[in-house]
Amino acid sequence: MKFFIDTANLAQIKEAHDLGVLDGVTTNPSLMAKEGIKGEANILKHYADICELVDGPISAEVLSTDFKSIIEEGKKLAAIHPNIVVKVPMIKDGVKALKYFTDNGIKTNCTLVFSAGQAILAAKAGATFVSPFIGRIDDSAWDGVELIAQIAQIYSIQGFKTEILAASIRNALHIVKCAEAGADICTCPLDSILGLLKHPLTDIGLAKFLEDAKKM
Ligand code: G3P
Repeated sequence: MKFFIDTANLAQIKEAHDLGVLDGVTTNPSLMAKEGIKGEANILKHYADICELVDGPISAEVLSTDFKSIIEEGKKLAAIHPNIVVKVPMIKDGVKALKYFTDNGIKTNCTLVFSAGQAILAAKAGATFVSPFIGRIDDSAWDGVELIAQIAQIYSIQGFKTEILAASIRNALHIVKCAEAGADICTCPLDSILGLLKHPLTDIGLAKFLEDAKKM
């Protein structure tokens, strides 16, 4: 399973990259706004800066919702760097745009996916990645990880090539459960990735080893 970081914060991207386990980056308009990135030139420059930090797929989301504008915007984003993946929402014009981008060699990430039916449609349109939002599903008292398992089963039976990118990850357990359920990638906040490190017995064991090492 690959690890992407779900942030537009350059320091956090660098920290995850320095850990040596980072395969890519996802962003969304909320994450870009959180970093105070405003105006088209700054937005494009910020994506270019992320591409300089990480050599892997970098998802940049379109802000348009009609076919013609999604295509225009997606082409502009894809022109920033060969690693840019155009992130498109799961709406009717978005599905049409996914197919257009696929046919024209542009990689895509279909976002805001909350059901197996939407995941089938994204795969049919040739999306490179599909992003089920598991944390938000959990928030509404459904089981987000169960959706990952369902999509993984469908994609395997049907031979769909779209990669399952589990998104809206909220903690380290989500990452473990997504790995178990067959996600190809987890896109996570830095805290969730670092959460995988934690175990009290590791800390206790290390303290004891270091203490005993003094007697060596
Ligand atoms: O990038 C999309 C997704 O990961 C958002 O997560 O925590 O806002 O539901 P969250």
